[in-house]
Amino acid sequence: MNLDFSQIVPSIPFILKGIGATLQFVSVSIIVGLVLGTILALMKITNKKWLKWPADIYTSIFRGTPLILQLIIIHFGIPQLFEYDIPVFMSAVLAFGLNSAAYVSEIIRAGIMAVDKGQIEAAEALGIGYRPMMFNIILPQAWKNILPAMMNEFITLTKESALVSTIGYMDIMRRAEIVGAQIYRNLEPLLFAGLIYWVMIFILTNIGSWVERRMRQSD
Ligand code: ARG
Repeated sequence: MNLDFSQIVPSIPFILKGIGATLQFVSVSIIVGLVLGTILALMKITNKKWLKWPADIYTSIFRGTPLILQLIIIHFGIPQLFEYDIPVFMSAVLAFGLNSAAYVSEIIRAGIMAVDKGQIEAAEALGIGYRPMMFNIILPQAWKNILPAMMNEFITLTKESALVSTIGYMDIMRRAEIVGAQIYRNLEPLLFAGLIYWVMIFILTNIGSWVERRMRQSD
């Protein structure tokens, strides 16, 4: 069998540096996605059509087109349209943040909708105002539906992050490809990159299960 990992040993620190690069833009993207996604979700659950519509169209566009396309359009479209050479980090955060917001808004909206209608009716019957009803009755219950799905979203984003290698962002994937080109051996660095991603997702998944278990305890 032709498999020789000894050649990538000197390049291991170079590939490992990608972990920080990956985590950096993924975590900023998650924050952008959470903030924008929450706003979009609030727009969706109102009964005002002029708020609902733009949020629905936004979600439709960002979920209805491939993320890699959005990424490349942002990275190469912005310089053409605005004559601004956008740094790869910013393109990555923009594409992933905007894309994630569409998914996050659906997670939050669905989580709120899944709370029994009787809860709202009961609150209204008791004359409780919209804000206290939302913050003290609906959201604490919606939270239980939202959190597990949100953990999934973070896991998806972490894996999809490898797409930024296509615009030259020096993440784990790109570094593995560079090492492969340097030593004329692609399989070994790619397998190593795979191992890194797997460990990262393994940790995230475990955090997710831990959070879920904690929530069940509090029931
Ligand atoms: N591969 C999918 C796409 O290209 C991933 C979308 C990102 N998913 C997410 N939950 N933010 O559209």
